[in-house]
Amino acid sequence: MSESMEGMKRTGRCTGFTSSDIGSKATVMGWINKRRNLGGVIFIDVRDVSGIMQVVFKSELNIDLFNKAETLRNEYVIAVRGEIIKRDKETINPNLKTGYIEIVAEELKILSKAETPPIDMGENSKTNELLRLKYRYLDLRRQSVQKNFILRHKAVKVARDFFDENGFMDIETPFMTKSTPEGARDYLVPSRVNKGSFYALPQSPQIFKQLLMVSGFDRYMQIVRCFRDEDLRADRQPEFTQIDIEMSFADESDIIGINEKFVKRLMKDVMNVDINLPLRTMTYQEAMDRFGSDKPEVRFGMELVDLSGLLKESGFKVFSGAVKNGGSVRAVNAKGCGGKFSRREIDALVEYVKIYGAKGMAWIAVEENEIKSAIKKFLSEEEVEAILKAVSAEPGDLICFIADKNKVVYDSLGALRLELARKLELLKNRDDFSFLWVTHFPLLEYDEEEKRWTSTHHPFTSPLDEDLEKLESDPGSIRAKAYDLILNGVELGGGSIRIHRREIQKKLFNLLGFNDKEAHERFGFLLEAFEYGVPPHGGIAYGLDRLIMLLAGEKSIREVIAFPKIQNASCPMTNAPSPVDLKQLKELAIKLDEDEL
Ligand code: AMO
Ligand code: AMP
Repeated sequence: MSESMEGMKRTGRCTGFTSSDIGSKATVMGWINKRRNLGGVIFIDVRDVSGIMQVVFKSELNIDLFNKAETLRNEYVIAVRGEIIKRDKETINPNLKTGYIEIVAEELKILSKAETPPIDMGENSKTNELLRLKYRYLDLRRQSVQKNFILRHKAVKVARDFFDENGFMDIETPFMTKSTPEGARDYLVPSRVNKGSFYALPQSPQIFKQLLMVSGFDRYMQIVRCFRDEDLRADRQPEFTQIDIEMSFADESDIIGINEKFVKRLMKDVMNVDINLPLRTMTYQEAMDRFGSDKPEVRFGMELVDLSGLLKESGFKVFSGAVKNGGSVRAVNAKGCGGKFSRREIDALVEYVKIYGAKGMAWIAVEENEIKSAIKKFLSEEEVEAILKAVSAEPGDLICFIADKNKVVYDSLGALRLELARKLELLKNRDDFSFLWVTHFPLLEYDEEEKRWTSTHHPFTSPLDEDLEKLESDPGSIRAKAYDLILNGVELGGGSIRIHRREIQKKLFNLLGFNDKEAHERFGFLLEAFEYGVPPHGGIAYGLDRLIMLLAGEKSIREVIAFPKIQNASCPMTNAPSPVDLKQLKELAIKLDEDEL
């Protein structure tokens, strides 16, 4: 039987009491975290969201109360009233906020009993993630999990305060809307009233925030859920949260400037970390050339070295051929790995880069007076010497080469760098925060399969003024007024200055293969809005989940989302998505294709 709280009022959270409260009475309520029965004395750790308070029951003081305490089990919910006293020397726990005090129980109510939890509730729980997520409400009781949500709450509060202080207004935008242009697949919601028609859940509020600029709101911010039907990864969820920003009468430097101030404030207020401004900036091209990635992890070296010039005439056709075909040959010097890695480990690296499209990976192990390499026989002595010089090789190094189309070279060497850092534990135990803007992204990408240009960001992204003239002649080389904010090699946010001139937007739509009619069907209301006076504007959106993941030192955004989805986009706790009644389907005029199920 559980008791009511009648007569008992909580006087504070478990860790709300300190040594200065010694001698006064307190009532705490919470879950039983741990109990120890030392015969005649029972210690109970009561846990609430703030932490733990130790409560002691002594048989010599009150045998009835002591007997009742003997019936307590882990995870029971209790209310205890008693006097706060100083702990005995032996029981002091300097690791706990309340480690110097305890409550001597005078009254105990069992508010609710609990079955044995199906997951390990310990702080270093070994329970597998699937089970943890099935019982997420229990998993969320653990302090190591709760701390992420406390951090998240603080960060959201700082974001709201900062943008409010800078004149940004929080305005909500619809969830049931029309397909948006972020490039993933939409989640669709069928309409009962308009049978056969569907709303799309927004991939971002992109179009609406631009419309708010047309309406004159000037500075907008929203902390908003976005929905994208794409393959899940450690840093991707089908629904995730953005801190979404848009500003009028602003160019790139205005947007970057205010957002840097936000980052600085956030890091100070939430993490007590000082960040120096301005943040480092790198163009997309430099990021690719040096790190093989548009979200470079710059906290360690092993940068890419372009050897194309040196090897374009080489007798080794794998190298020279790649350059002649418009690609390149580049290398990474895996410092110290030549001596360290076994043949098998090197072979594993060769297999690893194949995931990224590389057809092979040549390598040279540099020794004191010679080199070891399968490609030694294909290279002249001068070539070897020039290569070693170009990559600053020293004895013990391992030089890894990829020759291919640039995309494959960048992707595989970029990934190889990170794999080497993992293997060598270069970033282990690093708790620093390295922010970086990557700017001047290409405006367009060529889709080989569909044989057409697509937007790298979205179709409203403005080209750089000096590249406008290449809109027809050389679309692939046009750079955009687009920027991403990178933190420790993760894309934290991205945005752009938007096109606000109709004729440019029209040209771009044509390039993307939308004719006027199609453009009007998809974005007609935006194009129309732009006919009534539109301010120059731009913005950015941060992935809040990713931000918190990095601040919390977690490896997956699932750890910072209260009820996340797993790999196949399902929720192990609610079992969503799930089949629905035939009646519901009928109302929506939806028939399932049994063959497809
Ligand atoms: P973008 O598509 O780059 O830009 O998204 C902005 C940021 O959102 C985060 N993000 C995600 N986080 C978790 N799971 C996902 N599936 C996911 N997808 C994206 C990333 C990313 O940097 N409307 C534009 C912004 C703008 O131009 O103002 C946009 O949505 O951290
Ligand atoms: P092969 O001529 O195919 O026997 O390759 C000779 C060496 O070059 C082997 O060590 C391969 O791993 C390497 N190799 C093959 N293709 C590439 C490539 N695209 N880039 C770099 N090295 C390669």
